[in-house]
Amino acid sequence: MSDAPGGSDTMTQPATAESTLPGIPGHQTTEDDAPTDVVGRPMPDFAVPPPRTTHGPARIVAMCNQKGGVGKTTTTINLGAALAEYGRRVLLVDFDPQGAASVGVGVSPHELELSVYNLIMDRDVELSDVVRPTAIENLDVVPANIDLSAAEVQLVGEVARESILARALRPALADYDVILVDCQPSLGLLTVNALTAAHGVLIPLECEFFALRGVALLVETIDKVKDRLNPDLEVDGILPTMFDSRTLHSREVVQRVHEAFGDTLLHTVIGRTVKFPDASVAAEPITAYAPSHRGAAAYRQLARELVARGRTA
Ligand SMILES: Nc1ncnc2c1ncn2[C@@H]1O[C@H](COP(=O)(O)OP(=O)(O)OP(=O)(O)O)[C@@H](O)[C@H]1O
Ligand SMILES: [Mg+2]
Repeated sequence: MSDAPGGSDTMTQPATAESTLPGIPGHQTTEDDAPTDVVGRPMPDFAVPPPRTTHGPARIVAMCNQKGGVGKTTTTINLGAALAEYGRRVLLVDFDPQGAASVGVGVSPHELELSVYNLIMDRDVELSDVVRPTAIENLDVVPANIDLSAAEVQLVGEVARESILARALRPALADYDVILVDCQPSLGLLTVNALTAAHGVLIPLECEFFALRGVALLVETIDKVKDRLNPDLEVDGILPTMFDSRTLHSREVVQRVHEAFGDTLLHTVIGRTVKFPDASVAAEPITAYAPSHRGAAAYRQLARELVARGRTA
């Protein structure tokens, strides 16, 4: 993963008068100096959520975009870790045969005896058989590996094939506050299962020119699932990722998302930085790998924004 053009890290540059908010590179300020987000909306001060004394019922959030490499897995891991830091009990469900979310929290996919594949395909396997703790307190994972690639075909012959993941996750609802499902880059049956299980969808969107092209198709799929399978499904937010404050281009992409989707566009924007791929190599969330880096601050802010919007506990 190369860094932004120019070779330096946009998120570790010294703060200037124009760029002082953690995680919001290049944010602007209004005349009275109130902070604004990238599209000029006033930036709310998202409060640190009070700790929870009890847990559950969980809100299930699917991380979804059929375009590859937009930050779905990075967001699943780092949002999950940030919510866990705020005392939320978080379950990550790796629902991509690439197994990147599992690797990213330190689970080696080749050594798995049981994975999410067994959970959805084998009636004798229960959730408790496949859940694993991670090195992060409050953060558990249901891992995946390449076995899951067979499920897409095998599920076709199953009864209620779109609802298999929803049924499998039911026992976890009482124990967790948030369940984040990392989808693969496709709109196939696995992703439809994730959307059927979910209460909300979070759409990571890379800040580049063609990013918006696929979003209409994604929204159409979400609407179909809502109509036919899961009437309560909501879009929790669109999250710009890999934002580069030095290019007008990044800002234009976010502006166009705002024009098309209004306040579904989150205030939080994730800047481009090599610290994310670095943290993946270390198999740690950025909040643990580089806790005071702006990338960690950005995902903490995302966690607080989602709590403030009522999209997670
Ligand atoms: N904000 C960021 N800045 C720089 N690199 C990033 C950022 N977010 C993610 N990356 C890197 O970009 C690559 C793709 O990210 P990620 O794996 O999260 O995307 P994805 O949408 O899950 O991909 P896929 O569709 O293949 O599952 C990874 O190498 C990741 O480390
Ligand atoms: Mg991924």
